[in-house]
Amino acid sequence: MLNHSSGFMIALLLGSALFTVGCAKEPVVVETSIVILEGEKDPAVWGKKFPHHYDAYLKNRERTQGYSKYRNDNQDRISPWPFQFVLWDGWGMAIEYNEPNGHTDMLKDQLAVDPSRKKAGGTCLTCKTPYAPSLKEKLGADYFRKPYTEVHAQIPKQHQELGLTCIDCHDPKTQDLRLSRWTLKEGLKAIGKDEGKLTRQEMRSLVCAQCHVTYVIPKDAEGKSTYVKFPWANGRWGNISIEGVIKQIKDENIREWKHTPTGQKLGHIRHPEFELFSAPGSVHWAAGVACADCHMPYERVGRVKISSHRWESPLKKNMQACLQCHNQSPEWLKQQVLNIQDRVNHMFTKAGYTVARAALTIEQANKTPGADAKALAKAKEIYEEAYLRNTWIGAENSMGFHNPPEALRVLGDALDQARQAELMAREAILKAKGAPKEFDMAKIDALVRERYKGKDKKTGFRADVPKKAALIR
Ligand code: HEC
Ligand code: HEC
Ligand code: HEC
Ligand code: HEC
Repeated sequence: MLNHSSGFMIALLLGSALFTVGCAKEPVVVETSIVILEGEKDPAVWGKKFPHHYDAYLKNRERTQGYSKYRNDNQDRISPWPFQFVLWDGWGMAIEYNEPNGHTDMLKDQLAVDPSRKKAGGTCLTCKTPYAPSLKEKLGADYFRKPYTEVHAQIPKQHQELGLTCIDCHDPKTQDLRLSRWTLKEGLKAIGKDEGKLTRQEMRSLVCAQCHVTYVIPKDAEGKSTYVKFPWANGRWGNISIEGVIKQIKDENIREWKHTPTGQKLGHIRHPEFELFSAPGSVHWAAGVACADCHMPYERVGRVKISSHRWESPLKKNMQACLQCHNQSPEWLKQQVLNIQDRVNHMFTKAGYTVARAALTIEQANKTPGADAKALAKAKEIYEEAYLRNTWIGAENSMGFHNPPEALRVLGDALDQARQAELMAREAILKAKGAPKEFDMAKIDALVRERYKGKDKKTGFRADVPKKAALIR
């Protein structure tokens, strides 16, 4: 697909790898005598030594719109794909869910989000505050089980809104990349990857994998959170698949919420960027490309070059990151991203409505007296599989770009399983001499408007938000 021979591409890539190494050899140390102490969480203190990085970091507070087709800061992420109201009916996800904002705002955004999204307690702070590791040390089991606000109050006053900061990814003494979260360290152990032998290029992805992954929150008998971990028990480096994650959710019965339409408890999937990106099918992972290559491209500030610390979509930097390796025009590269995303969105939409059809048919079967219990149980079992697969791609933040063939494979399975679940639920109704309702996309949209209508984001469907669920015709 590239304009030049693959031999040239490899040369180009090697060049870029050398460039990468060479570039970091000129870190911008303005005042070398400044010593940053171990544990220093205040980015302004780090900023005295690295003012250019600090300036770039502060830009994460800006909100950007209009560059990206599917990801715009702070927008409602439920209404554009209306079937999601049916899929998440029963918990916070269907009440408020927004497109991501910048890293500086993550704790602020969490404080502002609907309380139903923080029911899991202190656990929720794990990816939102640099104090998470020390709070876990200090509070032990209470860190996970105590209410969110109680654990949040333990953060020193001046940092109660501080989001991602330097210490989350860097060693203050050497400035090397360093992992700060137990979740990832335990995850690496689960997949048999030696934490002591990580390469620099692996670290350029793994610092992100501390948070941009799916996680599970096991609960005790009272429904209180007992831990947070990555469901990687069945994974391997370069292959943490949805199949393995589902198996673990089932084996350990980590079902965190109850779905109202089907009446069953379900697991959940959150933003598996690292897993999708590193799975088989990913051309970029196979070529040794890291998250930082595309999301932290080098930029010139005055006479020096730094890795951008404004983490955002590459589309917002006019594809500058891609140009480190690709020699096509930014317009062409952007078009490739959109072509991929439109195709993944097509399948996500198709599978999503089919999963919703299955949910609504199971709902009807639940209400049908004498519905065949065996067929209904089978329908519910397959429903869970379809639901988790559809969410694997929907919750992942690149709309499939990070690994297009894998995204389409998973959605294909979700579509097939949702169809099977619907057929089983119909059979359960038919065996009781009932008449299964027919649902097409338009009927589901009408039902969503009726059942989940609301004027603002916290009460339900917003007709004023443009629909992004779309099929390619
Ligand atoms: C400590 C957790 C954490 C780490 C580490 C982390 N992120 Fe994030 N990231 C988040 C959260 C949380 C959000 C959403 C913030 C919000 O909406 O308030 C986010 C948002 C983003 C966004 C969207 C920003 C926007 O303005 O739309 C990008 C892109 C991103 N992260 C990339 C990365 C990359 C690349 C790395 C590694 C170099 C990384 N992140 C490391 C937690 C993290
Ligand atoms: C080959 C380039 C490339 C690599 C490598 C890459 N990404 Fe992305 N990423 C993209 C593109 C392109 C998008 C889609 C942006 C859009 O739709 O505007 C994206 C989207 C995202 C988003 C959503 C951004 C937003 O504005 O909301 C996040 C978060 C993200 N990537 C994190 C990661 C993480 C974490 C890794 C590593 C595990 C990674 N990416 C690896 C290119 C890349
Ligand atoms: C999400 C993780 C993350 C956070 C948070 C973060 N950095 Fe970085 N930083 C990186 C990565 C990745 C690199 C590239 C390292 C490499 O290539 O070895 C980097 C590189 C650097 C470098 C080396 C020079 C360069 O530009 O490549 C400096 C200095 C630096 N960061 C300072 C900071 C400061 C100061 C802060 C806080 C204001 C900060 N970083 C926050 C991930 C992070
Ligand atoms: C560090 C180098 C590097 C960066 C940065 C990079 N790419 Fe690539 N890209 C590659 C390599 C290597 C291949 C595989 C080339 C081949 O085998 O033809 C590739 C392949 C692709 C393909 C074809 C995928 C396929 O399935 O065949 C597309 C599309 C693409 N890149 C888009 C992008 C976009 C868009 C960006 C920026 C967001 C980007 N790349 C950033 C190195 C890179």
